[in-house]
Amino acid sequence: MLSAGLFLGLFVLYWVWIAIYHLYLSPLAKIPGPKIAALTTWYCAYHDIIRGGQYIWVVEEMHRKYGPIVRTMPGVVHVNDPAFIEKLYTLAPNVRRERGWPVLNMFGNDKAMLPTRDHDLHRRRRAVISRYFSQQNVRRLVPFINDTLGDLLERFDKWAEAGDIIKVSMPYRAATKDVIQSYAFGEGEKCLSMPDCNANFFAIIETNRLVHISVHLPAMMAVVNNLPAQVAKALIPTVGTFIQFLESLTVTIEGIRNSKEDPERRTIFHEILHSDISDQEKSTSRMVDEAMILAIAGADTTAATLEVLTYHVLSDRKIFKRLRAELDQAIPDPTQFPDPAKLDNLPFLNALIEETLRLYPSATHRQDRLAPDEDLVYEYPDGRSVTIPRGTVVGMTAILVNRSPLWYENPDEFRPERYLENPKSFKRMLTFSKGARQCLGINLAYQELQTFTAGIFRKYGPYDPKLKEQSGPTLELYETTVEDVKTHADYVTPGLRPGSKGVQVRIRRG
Ligand code: HEM
Repeated sequence: MLSAGLFLGLFVLYWVWIAIYHLYLSPLAKIPGPKIAALTTWYCAYHDIIRGGQYIWVVEEMHRKYGPIVRTMPGVVHVNDPAFIEKLYTLAPNVRRERGWPVLNMFGNDKAMLPTRDHDLHRRRRAVISRYFSQQNVRRLVPFINDTLGDLLERFDKWAEAGDIIKVSMPYRAATKDVIQSYAFGEGEKCLSMPDCNANFFAIIETNRLVHISVHLPAMMAVVNNLPAQVAKALIPTVGTFIQFLESLTVTIEGIRNSKEDPERRTIFHEILHSDISDQEKSTSRMVDEAMILAIAGADTTAATLEVLTYHVLSDRKIFKRLRAELDQAIPDPTQFPDPAKLDNLPFLNALIEETLRLYPSATHRQDRLAPDEDLVYEYPDGRSVTIPRGTVVGMTAILVNRSPLWYENPDEFRPERYLENPKSFKRMLTFSKGARQCLGINLAYQELQTFTAGIFRKYGPYDPKLKEQSGPTLELYETTVEDVKTHADYVTPGLRPGSKGVQVRIRRG
């Protein structure tokens, strides 16, 4: 009995000591923020797991109350000041930045480049793949992106014929996945040719609360990851489908590994698997992880951006008219595919894409980094400063910093014209992150957004109910308001308000 009492006493003392340490003795104690956030990671877990991806807005509120630097968890700091981007996401040579643990923990391992924590290993892994995503190599992909646009417009035609109402996320995700899949492996059935646009695959990447469970309860994820495939499939259907996806990637990677080198087949994985990097780095399990991330990161993000852009073009006639005027000039024959060099020079098209990326970043997570070798100094605009000790996880979040009034006037307004008035504000935002871990697919994303936007809106205009006869093929928003595109929650990808179906349209041929 005595020993149970002693045990309980020690237990309480231990937690009191931990609380005193976090609140008063920790080197982060001087960084402002609510006490509860400094005390425990369960505060974040509550808002992210129970309330569903809501910590992002709690952090925004903390910034309103406590200023541009706040402590969001016992060992985690968040900054919301554009001036800090260059320091945190530096590209300076010999300066190391590692990935922290608080987000993107759902992969169960760090064999792929994206979740790799160590700076040098990450650099080596990125070097193997990065050249495939250079501007020059992405330009070589344009004929394939154009073919995919052709497939997409064909599907639109068929839906118009059937009079169906469609959720645009479905064909957009299919189109972006077809592009990356063909570039990565050069094979596989196209999603756009499947009747349901491969809905099963996209259901598995709607991970929602799972992404936060993986951060706060990593042991639970480890158990799920180590379950025999049959058991996992029976217990959690989406995990089962995910395992099937990984199994199919394994077959594809092994097939490529065992194929003869063929100069005609220049896909990412054909080249990597026949290159001279170490066998360990070329192992099937690592390649499968890498392929999985390319397929997911390459499809969902760009499609989500295109979906929001579609809403704004269809809901605001001024935006549509300005865009169409540019497209009519650049693509005089609507049956021709857009010329990428011409699209680069269309100011309104590019401003529209930029504004969509700024206000609706399709990667919503806190982009955590840590500086292992140096203390970081945050300088307040009024000259005060605070030192963040080396090894502390520090994050910034695109959807918060992209709406900084220090960068943009009326930042919550969707106004593409702001880039025409001030071209310097192009490419400022944190949507693709910055520095050595910036989005690898940024050139591909811009190319797809330009080509798909130009192709869709050179052909389709908004439906006008006042006209007896429309002047061409149309898209009509169906039960969709701005509330259906706003970011409601952070699930690494944006979560829509409960019950929303996203952007839905009725397609008409004329
Ligand atoms: C609008 C579209 C996109 C957005 C907003 C976006 C956003 C991001 C962000 C914010 C990161 C950094 C994540 C972090 O470090 O926490 C990232 C990384 C990455 N993205 Fe994208 N992405 C987009 C499209 C693409 C595409 C088309 C691909 C092509 C396959 C791609 C592949 C990757 C990869 C491989 C990484 C990891 C880079 C590294 O760790 O070095 N993304 N992306």
